[in-house]
Order: sequence, then C-alpha cells, then structure tokens
Amino acid sequence: MRIVLLGAPGSGKGTQAALLKDHFEIPHISTGDLLRQAVADATPLGMKAKAIMDRGELVPDDVMLNLIEERLSSADVKPGFILDGYPRNLAQAEALEALLGKLGQPIEEAVMIEVSEDRVVERIAKRAAEEGRSDDTEDVVRNRMRVYEEQTAPVAGFYEDQGLLTRVLGEGSIEEVSARIRGALNTDGSD
Ligand code: AP5
Repeated sequence: MRIVLLGAPGSGKGTQAALLKDHFEIPHISTGDLLRQAVADATPLGMKAKAIMDRGELVPDDVMLNLIEERLSSADVKPGFILDGYPRNLAQAEALEALLGKLGQPIEEAVMIEVSEDRVVERIAKRAAEEGRSDDTEDVVRNRMRVYEEQTAPVAGFYEDQGLLTRVLGEGSIEEVSARIRGALNTDGSD
C-alpha cells in the first residue's frame, strides 16, 4: 500500500501515519521528521533548512526531491510506505509522480485529514506548551497555515483528479480518526 496523507499543520498526519505504519507494517516517511533530524545532527541539509522551517516556509523543492528520492530508494519501502508532509505543493506532487512512475510504484491512496482551524490552533498550542517545537510559536503557526492554504491545499485536487483522494474527518479521538482512515482505505480487517 502506497499512501499519501494530506492535511493542515496539526491535523494529525504524523499521529495517524504512525498508527498506519503499525497496521500495515510499512515505513512512515515524514519529511518534517527527516528535516528535524538533519537539524539536530547539524548536517549541511539541516543547517540550510533550519531558518526556513523556523519561519514556517517551505524548504526548496530540489532539496526536498533529493531527500525523498534517497529515502524512497531504500529497500524497506518495497512493500509500500506512508508519506506525511510530502508532496507539499503541485511541483512536488508532479515530481513525486514522475519518480514513482520510474520506479513502477505509483501512489494508490491519498487521504486528506480535515480538521477545523480552531481545533488545529488548540492542538498546536498544546504541543507548543508540552514539547516546545521551534516552529510552533503563534506567528510561525499563522505563516504555516497561510503556506498550507496557498501551496499545499491544491495538492488535494491533484489526487482528486486521479480518483485517488478520500477525505476523512480528523476530529474526535485519535482512535476514532484512525478507524475512519482504515475504513476509508477499506483495510479495517473485515476483508
Ligand atoms: P511538518 O513536520 O510536516 O509539519 P506540519 O505539516 O505543519 O505538520 P505538524 O507536524 O504540525 O502536524 P501533523 O498534521 O503531523 O499533526 P500531528 O500528528 O503532529 O513540517 C515542518 C516544516 O518542515 C514545514 O513547515 C517546512 O518548513 C518543512 N517541510 C516539511 N516537509 C516539507 C516539504 N515536503 N517541502 C518543503 N518543506 C517541508 O498532531 C499535532 C498535535 O495534535 C500533536 O500534539 C498530536 O498529539 C495532537 N493530535 C493529533 N491527533 C489528535 C486528535 N485526534 N485529538 C487530539 N489531539 C490530537
């Protein structure tokens, strides 16, 4: 199963991808996590990405394509993968389609997790208090939301046009959302 998870900052992509990973036993590939690891390791990529992430902007497409290409060439993705945070704009969606086309492993499902703005703000404020992620400050979150609306939201249409998109309500408990996603993917164990 090759899945893309879409949704606004704080919609629950990372949380749900971790559960899908256990369910399907396939890797969860989060470009945000890969970048945060690069920042923590102070690699050249991390040093380039940190200031951009701290403003809530997108890291350049060519940098992200190199990162995702390298990750998708690993042996562990052969049975499938869950992408979280990529693609983030139409150019990335097209680059991913070309890359996976070459590998003969196209995306099979795109799931859009839909959550109200109030709920997202509430969740990120809670995480900011608990974890102190450097891009969870009020101004940066506002910018991340703006970037999402302008650049990432149109990616849903890209997959909708291909008949691959399912929209799932991302409100309620983590378990409730997870059950909805599994139901939407028709993999809740009943078949
Ligand atoms: P990234 O890490 O992808 O950030 P994001 O999209 O803003 O997503 P978040 O991690 O904030 O939210 P999420 O949807 O994963 O929700 P989560 O499960 O954590 O990207 C960070 C930055 O990296 C970007 O701004 C950009 O600079 C750069 N970047 C990354 N990818 C890039 C790309 N492709 N191109 C260019 N730049 C890129 O949940 C949020 C909180 O809510 C958690 O505390 C969680 O516990 C809680 N929660 C989740 N579900 C529920 C629920 N049902 N009920 C209550 N609480 C819940």
